[in-house]
Amino acid sequence: MNANQPESVIGGKSFTAVAVNCAAKAGEWIKSKSGNITQLDTKYSAQDLVTEVDKGAERMIRNLVATHFPDHSFLGEEGVEPGPKASAKALEAVSDAEYLWIVDPVDGTTNYVHGFPFYSISIALAHRGEVIVGVVYDPSRDELFVAERGKGAYVHGRKMSVSQEETLSQSLVATGFPADPHAALPANLADIQAIAPKVRNLRVAGSAALHLAYVAAGRLSGFWEHNLSAWDVAAGSLLVQEAGGRMSDFGGEPYQLAVRNVLASNGRIHDELSRELTST
Ligand code: IPD
Ligand code: CA
Ligand code: CA
Repeated sequence: MNANQPESVIGGKSFTAVAVNCAAKAGEWIKSKSGNITQLDTKYSAQDLVTEVDKGAERMIRNLVATHFPDHSFLGEEGVEPGPKASAKALEAVSDAEYLWIVDPVDGTTNYVHGFPFYSISIALAHRGEVIVGVVYDPSRDELFVAERGKGAYVHGRKMSVSQEETLSQSLVATGFPADPHAALPANLADIQAIAPKVRNLRVAGSAALHLAYVAAGRLSGFWEHNLSAWDVAAGSLLVQEAGGRMSDFGGEPYQLAVRNVLASNGRIHDELSRELTST
């Protein structure tokens, strides 16, 4: 093995195998608890929900990762104080980590609570700030999206490619309503007002990680959202890139973990979407 390359196998299990195992195990458990939530709380705002399942799934993933890679760092949504400031600060605090697991145990908790079957488990591994493994799992459809840097992105073992649309008028795009109703919601409504009339149609399905997986799979032409956290985006960002798409901030600057205003696309419509997002 080249000494400059990140070591991908420790103790016989590859990083990707552990990520997939964590997502599958947590996913199965989360699905089994669906409809039987006993503890529903709010966090940063009345729209920001958390259940005992979010917390239990994160614990399960954290323990599994620690079993295989005890020296690795871990950033999970439920281990961080609520709100955008605390989330940016928590990422900053682990910016020196050699290996960092970035985990959202349930992305789409509102959907999960309401029985709307569009939520996911999002697990990424970053090496010195660069995402090298990304796994997004949708337990409702049993769809596992996996990417390794430089090796492509796959769903159910099939290689994924982004879609071919060249213009917004041919595009199906998605966005998300953030849990912060004050600053981000009015800004996003302005974006929607500008973009909705220009695209074929718009979806707001409620899981940023799954929206990104759908961009990678060519099911959506693009996606944007204000004020996301690293755990919403890290895994999906690698899926999109490895499927041939583009990840950036709204202005088109390349995506890195601290980017919160996220734009993902098939690449072809990226500049057009970016122009809309920076002129609203
Ligand atoms: C949320 C989902 C949702 C997005 C919100 C996120 P959570 O994550 O990704 O689609 O619009 O901004 O906070 O709270 O369900 O993990
Ligand atoms: Ca999330
Ligand atoms: Ca979550």
